[in-house]
Amino acid sequence: MNSNIKIKLALDRDAIHQRVNEMGRDISADFKGKDFLLVGVLKGSVCFIADLMRALEVPYTLDFIGVSTYREGTTPSGRVEITYDLQSNFKDRDLLIVEDIVDTGITLDYLLGQLKVRGAKSIAVATLLNKKERRKIDVKTDYVGFEVENKFYVGYGLDYKGMYRHLPFLATLEN
Ligand code: IMP
Ligand code: MG
Repeated sequence: MNSNIKIKLALDRDAIHQRVNEMGRDISADFKGKDFLLVGVLKGSVCFIADLMRALEVPYTLDFIGVSTYREGTTPSGRVEITYDLQSNFKDRDLLIVEDIVDTGITLDYLLGQLKVRGAKSIAVATLLNKKERRKIDVKTDYVGFEVENKFYVGYGLDYKGMYRHLPFLATLEN
């Protein structure tokens, strides 16, 4: 581990859990009566989706998709690849994509396009963090946990080079 990297607390456990519970209530109200598929985007969304699942008050089924966006440092190159595909038949189903963070929008835009052409009936998006300032593609986000600054966030599932996912809070990388 690079000992020069410092992290700074951005959102503590209570703030995250309170907001995720609110999102769960909002989503439940909107999805009442729909037989929807919750789609977690691996790996960053795992903590968020695990908490969101327990905050939802309506039934749903669960699946995951893995995507990898090629980056140089923290800047995406625009090339996206599906590394693990959904196992469910989602044709004509309502999907709710669960993302950790929307940054440039390149990953989400690609996912929305793919799932749409492959027959999803509707696709909504819930993201824990939204880094609007960095957007390159104007992609929609239906449920946003927190609007965040143009910094690099780690913890609560989010990583920097595979590290820091285990932190129970969100922090920013500082140097
Ligand atoms: P985008 O394609 O630029 O919107 O990037 C989306 C993906 O990049 C997210 O789903 C994350 O996996 C990763 N990412 C972007 N910003 C951050 C960050 O601040 N911390 C950790 N991962 C990030
Ligand atoms: Mg992600």
